[in-house]
Amino acid sequence: MKVGFVQNNSEFGNVQTNLDHVEKLIIGKEADLFVLPELFATGYQFKNREESAQFAEPVPDGITSRFLCTLAKKCNAFFIAGLVELEDDRIYNSSVIVGPQGYIGRYRKIHLFDTENACFDRGTEVPPVFDLNGAKVGVMICFDWRFPETARSLALKGAEIIAHPSNLVLLHCPQAMITRCLENRVYAITADRVGDEERVSGEKLHFIGQSQIVDPDGNILVRASETEEEVQIVEINLEKARNKFLNLQNHILKDRHPDLYH
Ligand code: ACM
Repeated sequence: MKVGFVQNNSEFGNVQTNLDHVEKLIIGKEADLFVLPELFATGYQFKNREESAQFAEPVPDGITSRFLCTLAKKCNAFFIAGLVELEDDRIYNSSVIVGPQGYIGRYRKIHLFDTENACFDRGTEVPPVFDLNGAKVGVMICFDWRFPETARSLALKGAEIIAHPSNLVLLHCPQAMITRCLENRVYAITADRVGDEERVSGEKLHFIGQSQIVDPDGNILVRASETEEEVQIVEINLEKARNKFLNLQNHILKDRHPDLYH
């Protein structure tokens, strides 16, 4: 199976420009699954809830989901990517999962980072795992990495790959994701962005790039630069993630003792 990420530099608020640009980055690249960053079409630093509401769209009938469905058909690939979701009067920092046949599902970020709490509602649904042509793919978003329970719960639900759309500002995530992969024997695809945003004076955000794909043994199969837009694709072997034995005696999930962890 070939999996990849897109590392872009979004221009805040210029949705159509960002969509067109991502399409240019991807076209001609071949993979079964592409992961794109969190909020890849809008940019990240919303000033308040009124502003995130302006960019919020219904799923799957909004501009970003429709763009992704068209791209998935054109590329004959699955896509997992972040957007601002509107449902009734609620606004979520979500990721959608689409494939060549159309919309498949969504995940609403449950661990909101810092000022996101003023702009989004927290997701209240269990992080999902999707069967994408036989590959079990779990989804979490950016700051979810800081809570190991998120990746663990995906692994316990059978995820072999964790798709991780991100807009990273904390430096430790790329290294921490190696541990998430070791803890759960899963692949992880972190798709981050590059560039800066300072939409609120004095509150500059620097996005660290370093999108990466890590295997169940903690090997970094590919890591992008800190500054450049990139699309990277690698071949992975899902059998590696299906084997949860560390040796003849130790099974990474069955050896847990949750009764002793209170
Ligand atoms: C983040 O969760 N985007 C830092």
